[in-house]
Amino acid sequence: MQLIDGKSLANKVQTYVTTEVEKLKQEKNIVPGLAVILIGDDPASHAYVKMKAKACEKVGFYSITHHMPDTISQNEIIATIEMMNSNPRIDGILVQLPLPQHVDTDKILEVIDPKKDVDGFHPYNVGRLVTKLDCFVACTPLGVMKMFEEYNIELKGQDVCVVGASNIVGKPMAALLLNADATVTVTHIHTKDLKSHTSIADIIIVGVGVPKLIKEDMVKEGAIVIDIGINRLDNGNLVGDVDFEAVSKKCSYITPVPGGVGPMTIAMLLSNTLKAARERA
Ligand code: GUN
Repeated sequence: MQLIDGKSLANKVQTYVTTEVEKLKQEKNIVPGLAVILIGDDPASHAYVKMKAKACEKVGFYSITHHMPDTISQNEIIATIEMMNSNPRIDGILVQLPLPQHVDTDKILEVIDPKKDVDGFHPYNVGRLVTKLDCFVACTPLGVMKMFEEYNIELKGQDVCVVGASNIVGKPMAALLLNADATVTVTHIHTKDLKSHTSIADIIIVGVGVPKLIKEDMVKEGAIVIDIGINRLDNGNLVGDVDFEAVSKKCSYITPVPGGVGPMTIAMLLSNTLKAARERA
């Protein structure tokens, strides 16, 4: 079994972005800029946004965070996004999800200029992803693809089981895999028999937020297991959606939690923001 080290790959991406930012500054006098919109007081969202801001600072981006109370109206959020859309210093706009109940998330995401949509959530980018055109791709699935590339894991013709069909992970993940010529099965909460799908897969990718959902008997000998889940247990420990102890004994490659896919999400946000800035240049 080989561990897929997301932390070290994320550092490698970060180093690359730092070098490229320096070049953009020198050659085009452009500093990539990211605007993050954070609404409410969800501790996990706060923690993620803080990590994103810190990463931006490290690679030399200009970054601003608009922190708004969860009583803010939808129109005020829209007005802020429109301001960022027309701000020439801002290349990327990220609205941290989830949004409060009274806000229509789909409507908010559609207000973001698709050319600044570094999260890849705008239907314009999702449509371009599905049709295999150049676009912004959601950071977590893009990070998983980067891991496959780094570890020379072949996808063509492989049977891949994606567990979870969310707009931000499962669906874009499935589209990327299909674009890479894998045979993709997407399972979800209404799937009748999850094990019947996971146990025949060459590669399992799970992101549902259920601690240790994937057990040893659900995984084929020698399979590759990618764990996107980040769950905090009552005792404070972080665990993924895979029973790592047992499953790791059976597979050829596995991502740990923490230190697996998590750091890659932020690395790909940096990479997407660099892409947006280059397109401005
Ligand atoms: N909430 C959970 N994951 C993400 C993400 O990748 N981007 C944003 N904007 N919000 C999230």
